[in-house]
Amino acid sequence: MSTLTGKTYAITGGNSGIGLATARELVQRGAQVAIFGRNPQTLSATRHELGAAALVVQGDVTRHDDLRRFFDAVAQQFDRLDGLFVNAGSASFAPIEHVTQEYIASLFNVNFIGAVQTIQQALPLLREGAAVVLNSSMYTTIGVPQSSIYTASKAALESLARTLSAELVERGLRVNAISPGNVATPLLSRLGMPRTQLEAVAATELARMPVQRFGSAEEVANAVVFLLSPDSAYMLGETLVVDGGRSRL
Ligand SMILES: NC(=O)c1ccc[n+]([C@@H]2O[C@H](COP(=O)([O-])OP(=O)(O)OC[C@H]3O[C@@H](n4cnc5c(N)ncnc54)[C@H](OP(=O)(O)O)[C@@H]3O)[C@@H](O)[C@H]2O)c1
Repeated sequence: MSTLTGKTYAITGGNSGIGLATARELVQRGAQVAIFGRNPQTLSATRHELGAAALVVQGDVTRHDDLRRFFDAVAQQFDRLDGLFVNAGSASFAPIEHVTQEYIASLFNVNFIGAVQTIQQALPLLREGAAVVLNSSMYTTIGVPQSSIYTASKAALESLARTLSAELVERGLRVNAISPGNVATPLLSRLGMPRTQLEAVAATELARMPVQRFGSAEEVANAVVFLLSPDSAYMLGETLVVDGGRSRL
């Protein structure tokens, strides 16, 4: 894999799970990273761990002004960006009868509108040859009960990767998506399910996994770093599935 020394990347949700694992891998390979997230504790721990290689800014992807502040700081510190990982996302599951307009709006607000606003605001900083990666979900390729709104918000990102690839190719930009399967991250504990229900869901999912285990954030991060790096220069509008074979076998 090519070296990333001197390159700069921005990651939303870089203070936890897949985003943090991606930040670690990028830094290990010589890059500098700008991280955006909400939780002050994990942001502070990330700043402490990554040290001078990381710019850390607190904010919410649903807030235009927070994103403006983030990318202003990125411009000041890094000048330009070699890549953007649009990773911040929220998951929630509900039977269709329980879905309300507010529920749809809250998921789409973070997962889709937040992603669009992130790309829009990063665009002036992305240098020619830069790569954008959107974090989708393997659930877009199979039917998973009670995931209708979450999965639709992720399917919209895969569509965005294709359309924006066509729209931005003349500027020398590439847009792809990553589609992770079930990955062991703090996301599960944020679902608001009682522990027993969570364990039952995890056991059901595990039984369907050909490799009989959840993926790790690092395994997804390796694929994200590939899509962010010049090693994937001939890939545009693609969705790369990293799910231990769950959706294919
Ligand atoms: N884990 C899986 O099985 C799986 C599978 C497929 C796709 N994904 C996707 O992977 C992405 C990362 O999730 P993860 O599994 O790594 O879970 P995670 O550890 O819970 O990370 C989620 C990240 O998103 C950030 N975030 C959420 N809402 C935000 C907002 N409104 N503004 C700014 N940051 C926000 C969180 O920041 P704070 O902690 O500061 O709130 C956190 O850094 C998500 O888009 C998720 O849908 C995960």
